[in-house]
Amino acid sequence: MAKEGEKKTCGQVLDEWKEFFWNPRTHQFLGRTASSWGLILFFYLIFYIFLAGMFVLTMYVMLLTLDEYKPTYQDRLATPGMMIRPKGKSLEIIYNLDNTETWDAYVQTLDNFLAPYNNSVQVMNNDACLPDQYFIQEDSGDVLNNPKRACQFNRTMLLNCSGIEDRYYGYLDAKPCILIKLNRVIGLLPGRDGISPYVSCGAKKEDVDNIGELEYYPPNGTFNLMYFPYYGKKAQVNYSQPLVAVKFLNISLNTDVNVECRINSNTISPQSDRDKFAGRVSFKLRINK
Ligand SMILES: *[C@@H]1O[C@H](CO)[C@@H](O)[C@H](O)[C@H]1NC(C)=O
Ligand SMILES: *[C@@H]1O[C@H](CO)[C@@H](O)[C@H](O)[C@H]1NC(C)=O
Ligand SMILES: *[C@@H]1O[C@H](CO)[C@@H](O)[C@H](O)[C@H]1NC(C)=O
Ligand SMILES: *[C@@H]1O[C@H](CO)[C@@H](O)[C@H](O)[C@H]1NC(C)=O
Ligand SMILES: *[C@@H]1O[C@H](CO)[C@@H](O)[C@H](O)[C@H]1NC(C)=O
Ligand SMILES: *[C@@H]1O[C@H](CO)[C@@H](O)[C@H](O)[C@H]1NC(C)=O
Repeated sequence: MAKEGEKKTCGQVLDEWKEFFWNPRTHQFLGRTASSWGLILFFYLIFYIFLAGMFVLTMYVMLLTLDEYKPTYQDRLATPGMMIRPKGKSLEIIYNLDNTETWDAYVQTLDNFLAPYNNSVQVMNNDACLPDQYFIQEDSGDVLNNPKRACQFNRTMLLNCSGIEDRYYGYLDAKPCILIKLNRVIGLLPGRDGISPYVSCGAKKEDVDNIGELEYYPPNGTFNLMYFPYYGKKAQVNYSQPLVAVKFLNISLNTDVNVECRINSNTISPQSDRDKFAGRVSFKLRINK
């Protein structure tokens, strides 16, 4: 009996479902008539068109407020970071004088890095600017002064580290060159009163007797003011970052020498302890023989 009852209920449920799906008497589909369905679809159509319109409008207004040449928000970097080339494996430059293969990659890296600094390339792309003063190219009101020019940094300005006379950058005779660059920060003004910032390098305490004499190129290790301010990749397409080369003239062989280079400027505050990469770069140099 229980089984029969169940069967009956099952059939009833099926019939009810069928009727709900399509009721031939009232002409209702899923419980609604055609006009009811039409109204509801029409309502949702209008609703979604309205939503899409809102989205497009807010996007449009937001994009209007953006300047494609300047980032709207930029972290205030009081002190920009510095980096070296070649940078070796985790800022360790280690090689063996007698084994060409151990320093070949460093020379290759420098060759590639300096190719865009060839005088011919620089003269073609950039201006010969007045040294020791900023190369200001501000926009006047709403009139964008774009694209902006950039100043020549000739490869030959790196003298003995240019890789032109000594194409091994001193790696062959244990007087290697390391290039130092200051990370790009849009709008950074790194010196006041016409005084350019300069790089100085020294050994960590335990290595002071091993670092030997250093020489900087360009002279005094300056980043000339004429390479600032930087206006961004899009506004200043041909910008060449200024470089400082450090040549180690008499470094001790067969020993680790931990070197730290820092920027000295009258506008950039000395490096903070909060960020150990701000305004300085540390690396290990070791030449084996
Ligand atoms: C740059 O100069 C070097 C050495 O003078 C040369 O070997 C290299 O081909 C030049 N590269 C470019 C891109 O002009
Ligand atoms: C960038 O360099 C190219 C190639 O020399 C040159 O045609 C162009 O005028 C330069 N653009 C700017 C803004 O300096
Ligand atoms: C770069 O070198 C070219 C020729 O080699 C020279 O005419 C130009 O004045 C140099 N630019 C700077 C800024 O020294
Ligand atoms: C540059 O190198 C040449 C030869 O390699 C050397 O005679 C000269 O003293 C070096 N210049 C400087 C400023 O060290
Ligand atoms: C290097 O610094 C010294 C002393 O600070 C200064 O007399 C000299 O003019 C500077 N040289 C260059 C090329 O800036
Ligand atoms: C090079 O350094 C050694 C000590 O490491 C020292 O004895 C020597 O006098 C230095 N040579 C020069 C030319 O400074």
